[in-house]
Amino acid sequence: MKIVKETNNDFLKNLNMKLQECIESIPLNTANAMRYSLSAGGKRVRPLLVRASCLDCGMKDNSFWEPAIAVELFHTASLIHDDLPPIDDSSTRRGKPSCHVKYGQDLAILAGDGLILKSFEVLSKSQLESDSLIRLFKVFSNAVYKVLLGEAMDVEALPHMNAKQIAQVYKYKTGALFSFCLSVGPIMISNMKLFEKTIKLGETIGIWFQLLDDLKDATLTEKETGKTVGRDSLLNRPTLLKILGLERAQLLADNLYRAVIKALKRERMINSANIIEELGKVGV
Ligand code: IPE
Ligand code: IPE
Ligand code: MG
Ligand code: MG
Repeated sequence: MKIVKETNNDFLKNLNMKLQECIESIPLNTANAMRYSLSAGGKRVRPLLVRASCLDCGMKDNSFWEPAIAVELFHTASLIHDDLPPIDDSSTRRGKPSCHVKYGQDLAILAGDGLILKSFEVLSKSQLESDSLIRLFKVFSNAVYKVLLGEAMDVEALPHMNAKQIAQVYKYKTGALFSFCLSVGPIMISNMKLFEKTIKLGETIGIWFQLLDDLKDATLTEKETGKTVGRDSLLNRPTLLKILGLERAQLLADNLYRAVIKALKRERMINSANIIEELGKVGV
């Protein structure tokens, strides 16, 4: 599944090249495993949102690259670790065998760790004023730690979690990275009021996105999603879908989507709204 807008084609081509270049050519299968997972595609929605947020804030230079690359490196790592047998035990990802299926669990753990560490190195190369760079680092570190906590809440989930508690898992596991992406532009222009708003909006996008992902996991095939499906129910993961049922979950997703688009447009974040609208059309 791709976000197809033609205006994004050049950016995506460059992004894929830069992601590959991040990993040094060293004769190690761990490096091959990192490149393998990065090359497997994916929608690249997080880098697209970083760039959109920068454009929305009037940034005309190329300073979006480092945060855009860093967030995709980290996201890809989180998927490699999420697919491991002791976590979700998913053997297909992005239409290909998962990293551990191709390279073994030992190298998949290392490849995930490597991509996480590399994400910080890439971010450190941002050519920003020191105040903005420090803030970018703080927000990124905070976001990626929240992803880890969200993943832990998912894995350690207590039975009978209520909807509010599950929404909290989604805000951490999925929303935190979206908050980072949307806040990059406001950080760069030091607009703290907009920064606060984008952090909140990212959390709502996370709940919407995870709801759709859960719906896909329950209703689509591996061929349609490019990844192993049916895991949530098999592993007894806490999902809003389980609590609300199909119809109410879809209704909630629609309402969240509309609220996000309206809020982004109100803040004149039109490029960001466009990315979410594209995503809404193709489905996450
Ligand atoms: C999958 O994210 C994991 C979730 C947060 C639900 P994406 O749906 O963005 O995965 P890719 O990057 O397109 O493969
Ligand atoms: C993906 O979560 C991993 C993170 C968001 C850290 P899920 O397990 O819900 O997503 P898929 O369905 O495997 O992509
Ligand atoms: Mg999972
Ligand atoms: Mg999973």
